[in-house]
Formats: sequence, C-alpha cells, structure tokens
Amino acid sequence: MKQDSAQKPVVLITGASAGIGEAIARRFAAGGFRIVAVARRQDRLDQLAKSLSATTEVVTLAMDVTATDAPQRAVDLAIKSFGRLDCLVNNAGSGRWAPVHETDDGMLNEVIEISLKAPFRFARVALGVMKADASIISVGSVFGTLGGLNGGIYCAVKAGLVGLTQTLAAQYGATGIRANLVAPGVIKTDMTRDFWDAPAFQRINQEMTPFNRDGTVEDVANTIHFLASKEGSYINGQTIALDGGWSTTKYLSYDALVCERVVAS
Ligand SMILES: NC(=O)c1ccc[n+]([C@@H]2O[C@H](COP(=O)([O-])OP(=O)(O)OC[C@H]3O[C@@H](n4cnc5c(N)ncnc54)[C@H](OP(=O)(O)O)[C@@H]3O)[C@@H](O)[C@H]2O)c1
Repeated sequence: MKQDSAQKPVVLITGASAGIGEAIARRFAAGGFRIVAVARRQDRLDQLAKSLSATTEVVTLAMDVTATDAPQRAVDLAIKSFGRLDCLVNNAGSGRWAPVHETDDGMLNEVIEISLKAPFRFARVALGVMKADASIISVGSVFGTLGGLNGGIYCAVKAGLVGLTQTLAAQYGATGIRANLVAPGVIKTDMTRDFWDAPAFQRINQEMTPFNRDGTVEDVANTIHFLASKEGSYINGQTIALDGGWSTTKYLSYDALVCERVVAS
C-alpha cells in the first residue's frame, strides 16, 4: 500500500554534508524518511539533495550549528516543510583534539560549542515539537567512554553526550521520546583521513580490533537508523560502541602478541 507523504517520518541531521552525516542521510532516505539536512557547505548539501531526489524529499539549510538561532531555524524548517519531526541526529562535531596542556580557551570553547552545546540546544528545541515514538540520537565516540592520548576536550565533550543522552532518556522516556548515543571507533572520513592514510595507524587499529575489517560510515548509519526505527523502540539512554570490539576486549592480534619487541636505540 502506498504511504501518504504526510505519514512519512522526518529526520533532521546535522553535519549531513560529508562523512558519517551524509551516510546517515542516505540510510534514512532508503528507510522512507524525509530529510532536513544541515551543515555549512551549501554546495555539498545541494549535491546530497540532488542525489536523493528520486528516493525522498530533502530540504537543506546551510548554517553553522553554533549560531544562536540555528536549532530554531532547523526545527522550524522541518515543521514548515513536512509538518513533523520524528528524529534528530546530532552528528556535526569538531575534529580538533590536543592534550589538555596544549588546549587554549579558544579551542576549548570552540569544541564545546560545536560538539556539546549545539547538540543540547538542538535537542531542547526538537523536544518542543516531537511526539511519542520520536527519538534523539547523537554521535559520540569510543574516546568519550575511554579517554585517550591527545583526546583533551574532544574526549570530554563526547563523554558529555553520554550524560546528555541519559538525562534525556530519563526525563522524556515517559512521553515516548527516546534518546541514544552511538560511539564509533575510528572511521575513515575527512576528519580522520590524515592518520587513516598512515600505514602504522592502520596496522595498530587492525591489531587491536577483534573483527576482520575496518568500520565504515554505513556501519554507523545503519545503527542510527535501527535506533530510530520501531525495531529499536525499547532502547533508551544507551551508548552503543561501533568499533568491532576494539574498546571492550583488550584484544591484540596473534601477530601483535608474538612479534618481537623493537626497542629504539
Ligand atoms: N570519523 C571518525 O572516526 C569518528 C569517530 C567517532 C565519532 N565521530 C563523530 O562523527 C561525527 C561526524 O564526523 P565525520 O567523521 O563524519 O567528520 P567529517 O567528514 O569531517 O564531517 C563533519 C560534518 O559536520 C559538519 N560540521 C562541522 N562543523 C560544523 C558546524 N559548526 N556547523 C554545521 N556543520 C558542521 C560538516 O559540514 P560543513 O563543513 O559543511 O559544515 C560535515 O558535514 C562527529 O561528531 C565526529 O566527532 C567520528
């Protein structure tokens, strides 16, 4: 039976112009969602909308998620264009990291603004229009659950998203609105290309991952779509690591275990 367009669910995705966010838009389009795509680069959003035009309706909004009026403008666009908002995906994030002693206040504030304050503010406005069965899903990181060298404020804001997700789940679960967090390991995107292209990084990542392939943007997008779907509708307040077991197993490949230690002279 053909679904009336007004009954089709609507997702608002921040950072939809590239990487994980673009993959999320493609997955939700394939799953029958109409899409509100937000990022700063209009040309990239236009390309995305064009490539999805045969699949679903897409509206775009080129803006910085840290702008004071950004959440209200994005949610207003969803309501004006489609009349409803079923899912918010807080994906836009800063890829700046450095040790704490090298983090100045400029960097500290920038990363907090993009990766913690914006998700909080988008959630606050989205809650005002969401109804039962809606959900808010944010993109954290395994480095927000574990910490790591050079993580600094990146680790701190991603850990902050765990708390935001849990309090959203506790506060609004009774109204039927859920909140969850996905925590990817290192996925190849523009954000991570520099070290992904280094053979040493690839080797270390593979030797510490108890699964036989690297993670992809589609892995992240599929999980987020599942969390937003009816099939995921009893999952609330959770952080789901997407790292092939990297963060929970203390795994070292057999080769890594038996290799001879090379001590720098
Ligand atoms: N890649 C990984 O290994 C990995 C692992 C764990 C978590 N994550 C998280 O996944 C999310 C997406 O990262 P990615 O790897 O896909 O990075 P990416 O390829 O660099 O994409 C980042 C996206 O965020 C948007 N964005 C950044 N700052 C923005 C701002 N101030 N206002 C509006 N949009 C903004 C960018 O669009 P414009 O430039 O057009 O604005 C782009 O669409 C981030 O939250 C990141 O921390 C990534």
